[in-house]
Amino acid sequence: MIGRICGTGSYIPPKILSNDDLSEMVETNDEWIQERTGVRRRHLADKETTSFMASEAAKRALENAKIKPEEIDFILVASSTPDVLFPSVACTVQEEIGAVNAAGYDMQAACTGFVFGYQTAQAYIAAGIYRTILVIGSECISSLVDWTDRGTCILFGDGAGAVILRAEEGTPYPPAAHLDGSRGEALICHNRCTAEFLEFLSDKEGKEIPKNFYIQMDGRAVFQFAVRSVPQVTEEVLEKAGLTVEDIDWFVLHQANRRIVEAVAKRLKTDIGKFPMNLQEYGNTSSASVPILLDEMNREGMLKRGQKIVLAGFGAGLAYGASVLEW
Ligand code: ACO
Repeated sequence: MIGRICGTGSYIPPKILSNDDLSEMVETNDEWIQERTGVRRRHLADKETTSFMASEAAKRALENAKIKPEEIDFILVASSTPDVLFPSVACTVQEEIGAVNAAGYDMQAACTGFVFGYQTAQAYIAAGIYRTILVIGSECISSLVDWTDRGTCILFGDGAGAVILRAEEGTPYPPAAHLDGSRGEALICHNRCTAEFLEFLSDKEGKEIPKNFYIQMDGRAVFQFAVRSVPQVTEEVLEKAGLTVEDIDWFVLHQANRRIVEAVAKRLKTDIGKFPMNLQEYGNTSSASVPILLDEMNREGMLKRGQKIVLAGFGAGLAYGASVLEW
């Protein structure tokens, strides 16, 4: 069996932070940010939580798929920023959308989370365990951003995206997925639910939160990793599928930086027009970026039945993965 995407949805918080707004917070400017990253503005959660955004994206995906919540068998939420440690975001979504027959859980793989979630859902469907699966990427990543660090705060934004997979006759293309834990320090954020952080809280008087409890990134190292690993994992997944770059209609990449997307297109020797981008509007929404982009393409009528799409994620881990799907 194969899981075909039958509906997509997304939720973007209305609050906007422009590059000009950022230039009043740290020493930067619109020109630098646009030239180095492609980002013009980002949307930030105001009162919205990761669960709220996930549930809204899920409701829109259900509407788009024209299926009832009770038909969902399983809910997989990729997130690094759950509003509570437990219950999982999946539990909150299950209750909020009325998916009374669904099981589910959260998985954390940072910016690769949605792609790994998609692969896990395909495996459940291929094994005949579940038939209808909701896969969500939802992040309130702004809560982990150090808003005094110009090297990272220009990049990120909040939001959620969701897809619904339905079982059909067929065989899915094999996935490609990798971890390189030896380079984990290049992009790291310490857990705030630790003895170290609790000790800091108990002795907080006049002290700032230590930097390691915010996103810490070696930007150049992550950039180099991305421009090498994404073409490599794309070529690998295409080879496994018996396809070539020319067979692919769309490359839907994690939206981290316009220069990364352009470098990947160049290394794959293919038309940049096949690499849709929305990072100019939302920045890097981590696990939410791929499903948000898919939802926008779907709603704009860019996706036609039978088209082949590569999904690719990369980020903290360092982790990276890709899947081929037929629309
Ligand atoms: N505004 C103005 N100047 C800046 C800013 C800023 N916001 N940030 C850095 N600079 C300065 C630096 O201090 C440096 O100055 P110097 O030459 O005097 O030392 C200069 O600009 C160049 O800095 P670099 O870090 O070399 O700039 P680079 O071109 O590498 O761009 C960036 C930095 C945008 C962070 C880039 O490295 C990048 O995008 N890396 C990938 C990051 C990424 O995608 N991370 C997430 C992926 S995984 C995930 O999604 C979690």
